[in-house]
Amino acid sequence: MLEMLKPYIKEIDTPLDVNLEIPHLAYIEAKKKNPKILLFKNPVENGKKYDIPVLMNIFANEEVLEVIFGKNLDLIAKEIEELIKMKPPKTLPEKLKAFGKLFAIKNTIPKTIKNAPCQYHIYEGEAAKLSNLPILKTWERDGGKFITMGQVYTKSLDGNIRNVGMYRLQVYDDKRLGLHWQIHKDSAHLFWEYKKANKLMPVSIAIGGDPLYTWCATAPMPPGIFEVMLYGFIRGKNPKLTKCITNELEVPADADIVIEGYCNPQEMEIEGMFGDHTGYYTLKKPFPFMHVEAITTKKNPIYYATVVGKPPLEDKYMGYATERIFLPLLKTTAPDLIDYAMPENGVFHNLILAKIAPRYPGHSLQIMHSLWGVGQMSFVKHAIFVDEKAPPLRDYESLTRYILNNFEPKNILVSKGIVDELDHSSIEELVGGKLGVDATSSEKSDDFSPNVLKDKELLKKLKSVEPLIEDVKQYFTDTKNPICVIKFDKKKSAKDIFESIKKFKEHLRIVVFINTDEIDNPYMLVWRVTNNIDALRDVWIDEVIGIDGSNKNELDGFNREWPPDVDTTKEVIEKLKNLGLIEGISEEEMKKYQII
Ligand SMILES: Cc1cc2nc3c(=O)[nH]c(=O)nc-3n(C[C@H](O)[C@H](O)[C@H](O)COP(=O)(O)O)c2cc1C
Repeated sequence: MLEMLKPYIKEIDTPLDVNLEIPHLAYIEAKKKNPKILLFKNPVENGKKYDIPVLMNIFANEEVLEVIFGKNLDLIAKEIEELIKMKPPKTLPEKLKAFGKLFAIKNTIPKTIKNAPCQYHIYEGEAAKLSNLPILKTWERDGGKFITMGQVYTKSLDGNIRNVGMYRLQVYDDKRLGLHWQIHKDSAHLFWEYKKANKLMPVSIAIGGDPLYTWCATAPMPPGIFEVMLYGFIRGKNPKLTKCITNELEVPADADIVIEGYCNPQEMEIEGMFGDHTGYYTLKKPFPFMHVEAITTKKNPIYYATVVGKPPLEDKYMGYATERIFLPLLKTTAPDLIDYAMPENGVFHNLILAKIAPRYPGHSLQIMHSLWGVGQMSFVKHAIFVDEKAPPLRDYESLTRYILNNFEPKNILVSKGIVDELDHSSIEELVGGKLGVDATSSEKSDDFSPNVLKDKELLKKLKSVEPLIEDVKQYFTDTKNPICVIKFDKKKSAKDIFESIKKFKEHLRIVVFINTDEIDNPYMLVWRVTNNIDALRDVWIDEVIGIDGSNKNELDGFNREWPPDVDTTKEVIEKLKNLGLIEGISEEEMKKYQII
């Protein structure tokens, strides 16, 4: 596979440190217009040289995705849809076609092979040391080094269910690796079986090999279905697995590196902080960990890693593949769903845009509820529904205009449900507000149109009642529902400010409050605001709609700890600049993405 990806790989010969330097360069690369895969040939750490190179950004861009998946993503979705909708064949051509489809299912069954390439070198006992691997520390405030692209293989206590999930793994020492499977995830469910039975749980981590295995580990397959079967379906050939040396688990035979061991479910260790894909750090919290018993590798292994942080990053492309391939599966619970998009600056679970063919009043509400109840879709905090007349979902500018012209306060639904364990803004951990907006076009009962003022004039008026307001910028003033973003000095809550500016309601419609620096940066504004709101606390629906996208504290009755932003380390950026390694990205883009 790496051979096929060669045209997209950029090799870096300059020795760079596994602490911050390598991840910072990959972070910048992922934000370029056409990012490349980076192969760091000389990873070092305080003068120590690692023998194993580091590969980052393997899911670099859409073209690379097509090489990795072997075909167009929509074609894969179509094949899945055909399989789901397959009817008993009647004619001979239909029978032959059906046979072909069933044959594809046969490919999903994993085969077990011996003498696997991933066991060329075998290190057991004292020789199996995590410090021999070039594991990265991505962010300055991270609690240590983390494996970020590990496929974590587990099985149920009775051995009937196999699972692979991608969870970050914190290195505590040479022999202990944190297992950050969040509470809602499949491995966490399996873990509970072992905990109740007080039995040791075997765990194996595979790194590298065919990157399609890595993507499968992130795929939100229903519980009980082994994600590796999806690999077989997409590749059109049976996955080849091999049995681990020290436990009963099986891992892809072509993995570059395999870490084998077990987890004692009665032991926990503090995990984090870690600069996460929300662009905020996830705070310290106890998680289970594994004891390392063996490390095996290919003859010449490569260590795969990724960087998560503020968008856009490599997970944009991994998430895009998931979005496309899972559309037919979503349609099984929401048949009138035409399409959906999860923009990366809504960090996937913070914002979903869905296009439906509504047939009756409340149709979009019905689909909203069904999405909020299905697997990992239930993490979605904000869902906006449009109908088939809307522009393409990824034409964000035209789509927003359409939404704002079809939006009515009465069509906002605020509900409560589970939220991603990473969500930092919900009133209580794991449970929070859900916001649904039905912007399908319909007979409008509300013909409000605000008297829009120039930003400067509006700022002056607002400041006259609220001196804590620092800046104002209005967006989409040509629509029925313009958005007014207000930056304020958080000496008061946004709610208090909202109450006093409501007197200017003829000039206002949707007011968004922030206390950070994204007022002129719509891309990062969406990122910040969708991250920071819990609709139950932060959305006020009246003649004017208020949305509090500011960082929360005790002024808001927020009693949890608010995490810091994930930001680069200035000295590291300077060093990379001085080495001439930062190119192909303008100062303006560096500022837009908050790299500098
Ligand atoms: C780069 C990246 C890092 C991830 N890290 C974690 C993590 O640390 N913990 C977690 O529970 N999920 C993490 N995920 C999401 C899971 O991989 C995803 O939810 C997957 O479907 C879980 O598999 P499971 O349903 O078999 O548990 C990550 C995803 C990506 C793309």
